[in-house]
Amino acid sequence: MNIPLIQPPQVEWASGALAKGPLLRKSTRIQDLTGIFVDETARRRLSGEHVVYDVEILATSPAEGELYTGVTHLYPGRVGSEFFMTRGHFHARREQGEVYFGLRGNGLLLLQNEQGQARLESVFVGSIHIIPGFTAHRLINTGSEVLSALAVWPGVAGHDYAALTKGFTLRVVEENQQIQVKAVQNG
Ligand code: PA5
Ligand code: NI
Repeated sequence: MNIPLIQPPQVEWASGALAKGPLLRKSTRIQDLTGIFVDETARRRLSGEHVVYDVEILATSPAEGELYTGVTHLYPGRVGSEFFMTRGHFHARREQGEVYFGLRGNGLLLLQNEQGQARLESVFVGSIHIIPGFTAHRLINTGSEVLSALAVWPGVAGHDYAALTKGFTLRVVEENQQIQVKAVQNG
């Protein structure tokens, strides 16, 4: 029997680069992140075109039971004293979880439940993050190199950005050359 051997997509672990698959790419720039960082004046002083993070996703089916795979490359930098971070979201289907794997760089994964209780996990090469359902998530790059993380999530999960209008209750800033975590009232 001549069974064709399927060549699957692949990830280069060291860089997080995806290859050999139909890929979707999205860049998120300073100009897309209005109201996300605490210091809006500092954000406006930066070039709007500056890319904060790139996401590459294997274009698979969003049907029930299917999984998406993607890599986020979050660049180093700050808006004012606050480290570059992703917008952050709940899943539209709140019960759906996700797994993140640290591939490159150093940072934090900020997790927050629907009651506003937040926690932080260290992200590093080889770290595994089980994000349960009903939990908003945001990556923060506290290092000086690119933070790359692989993610796998259900195709039906969806993204709900609007539910976080009050923001996350923790902010991560650099003060006196140290990484500091600040609690805020309403993000
Ligand atoms: O599915 C995920 O959680 C990730 O792929 C994120 O979408 C990615 O990190 C970008 O973050 P956000 O969607 O919050 O802009
Ligand atoms: Ni997600």
